[in-house]
Amino acid sequence: MVSRVIPVDPFDLVIFGSTGDLAQRKILPALFRRFCSGQWPDDVQIIGAARAVYDRDAFRDIVAESLRTYAAKQCQDADALSSFLQRVDYVPLDALSDEGWDLLAEKLTVDRVRAFYFSVGPRLFGPLAESIKSHKLATKQTRIVVEKPFGHDLESARALNATLARHFTEGQIYRIDHYLGKETVQNLMAVRFGNMLFEPLWNSQYVDHIQITVAESVGIDGREDYYDRAGAMRDMVQNHLMQLLCLIAMEPPAKFDPDAVRDEKLKVIRALDSVEPHHIVRGQFEGDGPSYREVVGNPRSTTESYVALKTHVSNWRWAGTPFYLRTGKRLVARSSVINVMFKDAPHSIFGADAGRHANVLSIRLQPNEGITLKVTIKEPGPGGMRLVDVPLDMSFAEALGPENQDPPDAYERLVMDVIRGNQTLFMRGDEVEAAWAWTDPIIAGWQARGDVPKPYESGSTGPGDAELLMKRDGRRWQGINP
Ligand code: BG6
Repeated sequence: MVSRVIPVDPFDLVIFGSTGDLAQRKILPALFRRFCSGQWPDDVQIIGAARAVYDRDAFRDIVAESLRTYAAKQCQDADALSSFLQRVDYVPLDALSDEGWDLLAEKLTVDRVRAFYFSVGPRLFGPLAESIKSHKLATKQTRIVVEKPFGHDLESARALNATLARHFTEGQIYRIDHYLGKETVQNLMAVRFGNMLFEPLWNSQYVDHIQITVAESVGIDGREDYYDRAGAMRDMVQNHLMQLLCLIAMEPPAKFDPDAVRDEKLKVIRALDSVEPHHIVRGQFEGDGPSYREVVGNPRSTTESYVALKTHVSNWRWAGTPFYLRTGKRLVARSSVINVMFKDAPHSIFGADAGRHANVLSIRLQPNEGITLKVTIKEPGPGGMRLVDVPLDMSFAEALGPENQDPPDAYERLVMDVIRGNQTLFMRGDEVEAAWAWTDPIIAGWQARGDVPKPYESGSTGPGDAELLMKRDGRRWQGINP
């Protein structure tokens, strides 16, 4: 199967915070890979902007260095690298003053898509939006791209939305949740809405419960300050896990169009039950290497590096089917999987000895992207009707052939969607606010109760209480397998 590249029109992309980690590690390598795919016309302009004073060549050297590290494969083509760098420019600019803005204005091209990527801390979102407007850089074809965290709670997210809305329409604001750009996350929609097979079973009549696991083996090195103020609930659950839950639980949109999809996701978030204190477990890693508290340099930190919780989507489709979510740092493996756990067959014609068997649809988001359906068959050989569960396994890489083994990174897709003006994979303002409205009371409850996270061993599957959360309901987490 050959991947299709749909060309885009010429564009200018300005990256604020272009010398920062995200720009160097993710955004610029993503742009370079898209460039190498032949998706761009000749006259594209990438303009880095940041406070540091560099000239264009010095900035190009910095970019080249990052690309050699983060897009090593494409960099083997020296001509491609030099041709990409020809399109890269730089403006020293201060988000909080007038410095540099006139020079930026001179460089921008009239009458084409103009995207401004805010790869900076949230406190600069407002000033940047304001300056783009006051320096008359905003045209009809202007888009702004905003990174997470989008607010710290409902109030700050509302304030941020209001600030951006003073200068831009909702159709111009692209709020990134990079999980939505992952190939396999989009596959969730393809699997659900492109197949007849699953939809009739996709409800509480047939689904016992759903498990969403985003396990990480990495810690929080290099991001200690941010993380200790955020914790797993704000860093992962409010956004990435919430988006996965929405894609699993939402009703089929009438079409794959930005507002149709986002309307359905919003309904799911609004239908989420509040979480009972005994339905949520917080953890903090320790042992085997520095503990969380040592890493953040705060011996009394009560920030969670792990969360497991149970919630319900209170609507007709899902009434009675619990959704269990868990995510954590420094766990046994990096593994993001959604398990749709079907109910047992209503009656076993094979008798009690055959045991209990239920189908499980596992959607592996990363690594080893693919789908497994566990089905029950007869154990081969003599000895009567003994049943055994076996996987019908499909690895996307194997099924789709070698040229699809290396799907585009989430940022490649998302940045190109900004240029194309497609907001389907970006969060709408009301969606973000609804997610905070659900998250805030959980965090407020912890604060009011002086809750302290449960310790768990680095390299384990998380705190024992997370197992209990399941056990109390007569269920078990599926394993965290890399
Ligand atoms: C980020 C979080 O949004 O997502 C990080 O801030 C987390 O803490 C990362 O590690 C996970 O992304 P991925 O793509 O590696 O699963």
